Formats: sequence, C-alpha cells, structure tokens
Amino acid sequence: MSAVDSTGSSAAGGMLTEIDHVAIAVRDLEAAIAYYAGTFGARVVHRERVESDGVEEALVQVADSYVQLLTPTRDDSPVAKYLAQRGEGLHHVGYRVADCAAALQSVKDHGGRVIDEAPRPGSRGTTVAFVHPKAAFGTLIELVQE
Ligand code: CO
Repeated sequence: MSAVDSTGSSAAGGMLTEIDHVAIAVRDLEAAIAYYAGTFGARVVHRERVESDGVEEALVQVADSYVQLLTPTRDDSPVAKYLAQRGEGLHHVGYRVADCAAALQSVKDHGGRVIDEAPRPGSRGTTVAFVHPKAAFGTLIELVQE
C-alpha cells in the first residue's frame, strides 16, 4: 500500500515507513502480557532480554506492528528510572526506517538531539538509534531498521 521510492522512503511518511512498535513500560511483564491476551486475545510473538539496555521485552503483534511491553532487569536501567520517575505508561515510539544511519543523520542535520550517536544493535536483530525526547516534542523516538 505504501509507495516506496528508490531511496526506500515512502511517499507519505518520508523516511518513516511504518510504526514498528509502541513501547509501554510496565512493572510486571507477566501481568501486562496476561492483560493483552485475556482482554484482547493478543498474542506475544517474541520475547527477549536485552542485557545492554537492562530490559526484558515482550512483543504483542498488532497487524504489521507491535506493542512492546518493557520491564527493567536491573535497577540502573533507563526503564527502571523511567518507572520510578513517571510510573507505568508510554515509553517510546519505534518508527521503521529503511536506513537507520540516514534517518539519524537527518535528525542531526535538522538540529535534533540524539541519544545514540551511531546506529547500534536492537532486539530481533534490528539496527536502532534513539532520538532525545527533549528535541522531539516530548516523545522518545526509536529509529528501527529491520
Ligand atoms: Co523499542
């Protein structure tokens, strides 16, 4: 449905080709999974501990995207700090991009603030980079290249 040109950009979303995932920080991963399964019949299609980020995630499939339920695996992880300061809730939005490095460079070129200076490995074998929420209208953005 999306028209993709030779640079991998979709006509309407530019470099952002899909919503990859919406990430929700939770204290009890099993309870959150049970909620989505029990209430909506939604299924977990992937689970992974990402030691470098200090998180465990469960991906609940929603069409071609995911709800990413995230819980900290250690007290000094960014998600643990987020939960302590702001409680459970929306943590970040992951946008799918064809070229993470190019999208990250575009953030820099347009005066944005990055958290990751260069793309790095994410979960599911993806390549990711985070954009700082302070210069992105209060939303932590993750650029996700599959
Ligand atoms: Co994410």
